[in-house]
Amino acid sequence: MVLETKRLTLREMNLDDLDALLEVFSDPKTMQFYPKPFDRQMTRAWIERNIQRYTQQGFGLWALVLKESRQAIGDCGLVVQEVDGVEEVEIGYHVRRDLWGQGLATEAAQACRDYGFNQLNCDKLISLIHPFNLASRRVAEKNGMTLIKEIQWRNKPTCVYAIKRS
Ligand SMILES: CC(C)(COP(=O)(O)OP(=O)(O)OC[C@H]1O[C@@H](n2cnc3c(N)ncnc32)[C@H](O)[C@@H]1OP(=O)(O)O)[C@@H](O)C(=O)NCCC(=O)NCCS
Repeated sequence: MVLETKRLTLREMNLDDLDALLEVFSDPKTMQFYPKPFDRQMTRAWIERNIQRYTQQGFGLWALVLKESRQAIGDCGLVVQEVDGVEEVEIGYHVRRDLWGQGLATEAAQACRDYGFNQLNCDKLISLIHPFNLASRRVAEKNGMTLIKEIQWRNKPTCVYAIKRS
């Protein structure tokens, strides 16, 4: 286990999470700001990419596991992203749609923020969000971030939210 919050544990994802994460990533509404929902192969690649990140960087997107049911219900974690030529550490999150609106993404994102500052010694953390993704923007705000700029990132309009170590 990497992190624990009141309702969640965050741990490294693995291929045993494929079915649970496919349920999250194959949902069209959850993936409305991605080119398309993931199929089984894309979800497998997502898991493998994060396993690679754990090895190469020591962190990545971790599986979110509900303590109560022990189900994997999404992911949240830290990912290195290049923004305007600078390497930044991004907090990202995805939650299974039937569990939205219960504060789970915020709970996980806040734990990842504290991990980024206290364990990884980051000076700044960001979140990259499509302007129309209001739920995600709200999570960034509840995570203490502020909108610093709007850019084109990977050919998409993107809000850059950031928080500095205080
Ligand atoms: C973004 C996401 C992770 C949020 O998960 P969640 O567990 O529902 O988040 P929380 O419950 O912690 O907070 C959501 C907040 O957004 C608000 N919200 C939800 N939909 C909204 C909308 N259409 N307009 C404005 N606010 C909205 C909620 O009211 C809540 O804020 P509040 O606590 O002030 O009421 C979830 O919607 C998701 O998985 N979306 C698809 C994947 C995604 O886009 N990830 C982010 C990529 S940048």
